[in-house]
Amino acid sequence: MPEKPKAPGPAGLISWRMMTQGQLNFIDSLARQYGPVARFRFGGMQYFVLSHPDHVLRILQENIANYTKETHQYWLLKQIMGNSLLTGDGSLWQQRRRLIQPAFQRRQLEHVAEQTVAATDAVVTRWRTFLESGVEFDVVEELVQLALRVIGQILFSTDLIHEAPAVGAAVSTINAAGAWDWNTLKSFLPILNRPYRQASDRLEELIRSLISQRRDEGALRADLLSALVQARDEETGQPLSDQEIRNEAMTLLLAGHDTTAHHLSWTFLLLARNPGAVAKLHGELSEVLGGRPPTLEDLPRLTYTRMIVEESMRLYPPIWVIPRRAIAGDEASGFQIPAGSYVVLSIYNLQRDPQWWSEPEEFRPERFDRSISAPPRAGAYAPFGWGPRTCVGAQFAMVESQLILARLAQHFTWELAPNHPIVPEGLTTLRPRKGIRIRLADRPGNDTLEKATSGDAT
Ligand code: HEM
Repeated sequence: MPEKPKAPGPAGLISWRMMTQGQLNFIDSLARQYGPVARFRFGGMQYFVLSHPDHVLRILQENIANYTKETHQYWLLKQIMGNSLLTGDGSLWQQRRRLIQPAFQRRQLEHVAEQTVAATDAVVTRWRTFLESGVEFDVVEELVQLALRVIGQILFSTDLIHEAPAVGAAVSTINAAGAWDWNTLKSFLPILNRPYRQASDRLEELIRSLISQRRDEGALRADLLSALVQARDEETGQPLSDQEIRNEAMTLLLAGHDTTAHHLSWTFLLLARNPGAVAKLHGELSEVLGGRPPTLEDLPRLTYTRMIVEESMRLYPPIWVIPRRAIAGDEASGFQIPAGSYVVLSIYNLQRDPQWWSEPEEFRPERFDRSISAPPRAGAYAPFGWGPRTCVGAQFAMVESQLILARLAQHFTWELAPNHPIVPEGLTTLRPRKGIRIRLADRPGNDTLEKATSGDAT
């Protein structure tokens, strides 16, 4: 068979360009300049930026066995999470997915919804003081704390707010792992440095003590930790060991809040820039909820809320690239992908490609209106990945995001602080490097709202 042609891409060593312009701009400019398959070299290795829906289908589904997670990003994640559902490959992954997926079933969503609304009500109480004093604040920080509280309850039935510094240290290391620039070098340093080690020891100690406490209690709670303790392999009947539970708990803790928090932060930005969408959102909230807190049962009727969430994840997919390594040679759009090379599926570019999305840079939630728009082409929308390894927490994340957005928008409107630059940065998650500073305003007509029930304004 004749050899497939080599994909186009910049010649020579481009490390400097990547390090100076930031990898989001770098990947984005390669995809825009060279099309759906762009090749570059970095550190002596060959990389392919892929951004066609067919590549998503091929790599994450049809030829999934040929692509491993042996990439530097996943290597670093493993240093913190160990071998887990997220970081593992092959039979380990299969066994874990079989074991853990049942814990994410629909009946758990009720618990997720209740915990989410309770934690959001505490934020409403806190934000009332921001509203009264008229202060500007970083909404990203606030939403990271909120998402941490929610995952703490869903996973451990514990308020993790006091662990925020330790969790934050782990998250920033994970994020630096997602970079191919100076951040990558920096990411290896925290593992060796004392404050990081102290923070991660604290987290480790906490998770281990929660596991042993739960074993003593006999695992009767409605949270994910109990599900992990009770899980049995359907073929062997084996439970997970303490070390395996530790790895999965650490994974779910870290994968389950930074993504959601950043997704919601981008949503806040988009809504601040789109008053028309805010008006529609308020209309829906008043009509469906009439001032009471949202519940899981309300979600099918909060259709515009869902569309906002979906459209926000299109423009700002929290996991903006998905990396893999090819075991054997393959091809993409007729170009060769040699054995051993790295592929980077750019979800960011895929979801902004005018071939699949009209006016792709516009925020238009209506494109997800199922009554008037056809669903996106298979593989063209993949904020939760695709195929067998699609995000196990996707439904949780959707419920959480919609409820938080609905509850906060019931109480407040917000505007962006003037002169504060918004700088998207593509690390492991897509995040605003300098945060998003906002100022709250009371929502017109919200005097009919039932007040937030929690008085906890920490
Ligand atoms: C907006 C929120 C979220 C986004 C955008 C997101 C995105 C993703 C993506 C793209 C993947 C696939 C990664 C790959 O194939 O390399 C993934 C996998 C995963 N996610 Fe999420 N995620 C979110 C929330 C969550 C939550 C709430 C949890 C858990 C509570 C979670 C746990 C996981 C796990 C364990 C995997 C690995 C699944 C496997 O390989 O079988 N994620 N997520």
